[in-house]
Amino acid sequence: MLKRFSRRTFARLFGSAAIAPAALTNLATSAAGQTTKSAATARSFPQGFLWGSATASYQVEGAVNEDGRGPSIWDTFSHTEGKTNNGDTGDVADDHYHRYKEDVQLMKALGLKTYRFSVAWPRVFPQGAGAPNPKGLDFYNRLVDELLTNNIQPYCTLFHWDLPQALEDKGGWQSRFASEAFATYAGYVAQHLSDRVKYFMTLNEMRSFVDIGYRDGRHAPGLKLPPAGVNQVRHHAVLAHGLGVQAIRASAKPGTKVGLAENATTTVPVIETPEQIAAAKKAYREVNAGYLTAIMEGRYTDAYLTHAGADAPKFTDAEMKAIGSPVDFVGLNIYNPSYVRADDSPLGFATVPAPASFPHMMSNWLHVGPEALYWGPKLATEVWNVKEIYITENGASSADVLTPDGHVYDSDRVMFFRNYLTQLHRAASEGVPVRGYFCWSLLDNYEWADGYAYRFGIHYVDFKTQKRTPKLSAHFYKEVISRNGVA
Ligand code: FCB
Repeated sequence: MLKRFSRRTFARLFGSAAIAPAALTNLATSAAGQTTKSAATARSFPQGFLWGSATASYQVEGAVNEDGRGPSIWDTFSHTEGKTNNGDTGDVADDHYHRYKEDVQLMKALGLKTYRFSVAWPRVFPQGAGAPNPKGLDFYNRLVDELLTNNIQPYCTLFHWDLPQALEDKGGWQSRFASEAFATYAGYVAQHLSDRVKYFMTLNEMRSFVDIGYRDGRHAPGLKLPPAGVNQVRHHAVLAHGLGVQAIRASAKPGTKVGLAENATTTVPVIETPEQIAAAKKAYREVNAGYLTAIMEGRYTDAYLTHAGADAPKFTDAEMKAIGSPVDFVGLNIYNPSYVRADDSPLGFATVPAPASFPHMMSNWLHVGPEALYWGPKLATEVWNVKEIYITENGASSADVLTPDGHVYDSDRVMFFRNYLTQLHRAASEGVPVRGYFCWSLLDNYEWADGYAYRFGIHYVDFKTQKRTPKLSAHFYKEVISRNGVA
């Protein structure tokens, strides 16, 4: 039953009997910081907001031995005993390589304006470098054409972790050669797709593939390098981005936009007071010093280098200049918050560890903190004056159950999206230049070392039959798209 509040009850609940509705609006805006001009209204996102969905090559494509594709580090890793949940591999995944037309129809039914996919480097350069494989590139030609025919704008990521195994055999990201090979590959793809693809992202989540893959050993290639090694890998990753930006600019059609999709740690003030907000802002630069900060500023912060000491990465001025190549937009993958508080240490902030009781989705790491979707884009804009921001990933795993009559009532995922999108709307209505949002993910897919047990899709996939079923969250998202606002 709908509960009605009298004006008096409402005022009591909010602490003052004298507050009129207009004053409430003013309070809301001043508490949230400066209000700037925005085309967002009280209910809607700005006109033309790009609603999308994202996937990644190894997580959905399958067809690992087709049309001349070379092996990637994820083929090797997932086929190594004990490395992935249940021994799951991406050999078949969603069989998207063969079913992409059907999947584009799912996108169309949702009303998606845009789709973010990644190109598998070992399809295009089976050896990582050297001779390209035109048959591999052709898959992406077909996919892009199919998207455009259905009025869906393609957004293309060039590296979503499936490094050609041949490069790993030469040292992978431990070697500067990988950064150079990436630039050649990125330039080649941009040259062939930029007549139809206007937005390219260089690398996806450097923090994840560097730290989890080369430091913790839980992702491919499964290494546990000492700090100096990890710092050098990190440097080669940001260098690959910078050289990639330059290569794309040199070979793409005029008007092509270049950025990246990074999971910058989203610092969130524990309490929204000026002091705590200032601490979160300082923290945003420092905790992302090896990645997004280096890219946006073309230098490593003093604190980063001091902290690394003798293990600091080796780099040249010319490399830092390349790393700082201006980007046209910043893509942020945002899942969870990192709460920060002010303190009187030299850096002026401390991270607040999450208590064991902190609510999370099915993945333990996925703490539910919707305000991350407000603070992420807001801090990126304030710290670096970014003019164009996309949320390139956001979504949730849940313990989905297909009912006997063929439904998936993922009400927890709907709750997740509704709350996160409300916070994104808050950012847009303050004028933070968020231009689009890509939900992760269109389909249940291969969730890396977690295998197929962790479902992130808004479409349920029966991995035996490859049947796709829209979940409740797909219906919810369709409603959001058609209203251009939180449903
Ligand atoms: C991100 C990855 C993406 C997917 C989601 C759940 O870190 O970029 O491939 O695994 O998490």
